[in-house]
Amino acid sequence: MHAAVVTSFGSPPRYQEFPSPRPRDEDELLVDVLAAGLHPRVRSQANGSHYTSTGELPLVPGIDGVGRGPDGRLRYFVLPDTTMGAMAEQTVIDARRSVVLPESSDPVAVAAAMNPAMSSWVALRQRISFEPGQNVLVLGATGNAGRIAVQVAKHFGAGAIIGAGRDGDRLAGLSALGATDTVRLDGDPDEVAQRLGRAAGAVDVVIDYLWGEPAVAAMVAVVTGRVDRGSPLTWIQVGSVAGPTAPIPSAALRAARLQIVGSGQGSVRPRAILAELPALAEQITRGTFTIDAHPMPLADVERAWADAASTSERIVVLPQPSRSPSA
Ligand SMILES: NC(=O)c1ccc[n+]([C@@H]2O[C@H](COP(=O)([O-])OP(=O)(O)OC[C@H]3O[C@@H](n4cnc5c(N)ncnc54)[C@H](OP(=O)(O)O)[C@@H]3O)[C@@H](O)[C@H]2O)c1
Repeated sequence: MHAAVVTSFGSPPRYQEFPSPRPRDEDELLVDVLAAGLHPRVRSQANGSHYTSTGELPLVPGIDGVGRGPDGRLRYFVLPDTTMGAMAEQTVIDARRSVVLPESSDPVAVAAAMNPAMSSWVALRQRISFEPGQNVLVLGATGNAGRIAVQVAKHFGAGAIIGAGRDGDRLAGLSALGATDTVRLDGDPDEVAQRLGRAAGAVDVVIDYLWGEPAVAAMVAVVTGRVDRGSPLTWIQVGSVAGPTAPIPSAALRAARLQIVGSGQGSVRPRAILAELPALAEQITRGTFTIDAHPMPLADVERAWADAASTSERIVVLPQPSRSPSA
């Protein structure tokens, strides 16, 4: 079969022949992969920088996807940490880490949206006791995960939903997705802090995709602008597109009732993440959450890697383009 294969962490994967994997026990299924998302997590898997990387090569990247098993059913699957990923004509999945999808599902839409949507869905469902009416700030709302976080917050009945990000055009599109206000993060830092403090002074929950210096500046602005400093403010750390570390001033933690938690692989048990998949897949299949997806054949995987660095769309690799309805 063909697969995208990483043989060196310094180079993108190449389309080449690769041995078909074999199921090892009765829970494993060999599936024909129809669609696999090229998420940031897949890029960090393929360049060896993700915290779960073991350094083992060769590696077929891809952490999740949509495929069809020997029983003929369409499934969304999440792979464990493995060198046999989803960007191959076939892969082996654990049936317990999969959800059977309705036949009418669009594999591209599901493969594009599940990973970014899971970031906020799991954060709000598993890391905190989110209640309808609570106000949410999405920090880094212009990326795919941030745009879906706005929609997920709306789905769970959030009160105010504030989207903050750099890209003005994409920020402008957030109101159609459910944002009640937006804040641009570029420009003069003092003005940004004032805008953020005014807009987000009454938020209960922050879903943070940025971390790094922008998150520190935002945290100080939100704490400073707090309408009631004694009211709980939960900062959920979900992504780190702006930097892996953040020098948080100690005063921010004392001056407001702020708690910082993380949400991701490790801080939420695999079983708890898997338990959320059916309901999330159902909403994506229904079209509750939208994402700009860009399908590309597996044979073009090198171009897909190059394009992923610059496009705001979520690239979805199609290992069997002729069998995917969206191709
Ligand atoms: N923990 C979890 O469960 C989980 C799950 C999924 C994803 N994630 C993480 O969430 C993050 C976002 O994922 P994604 O799928 O949304 O990625 P994405 O679609 O590539 O979006 C990333 C966004 O980050 C913005 N950005 C980059 N640097 C920035 C900065 N310094 N300040 C403000 N914005 C900045 C970019 O906006 P511009 O247009 O302004 O450049 C871009 O829109 C990644 O770190 C990913 O690994 C975590």
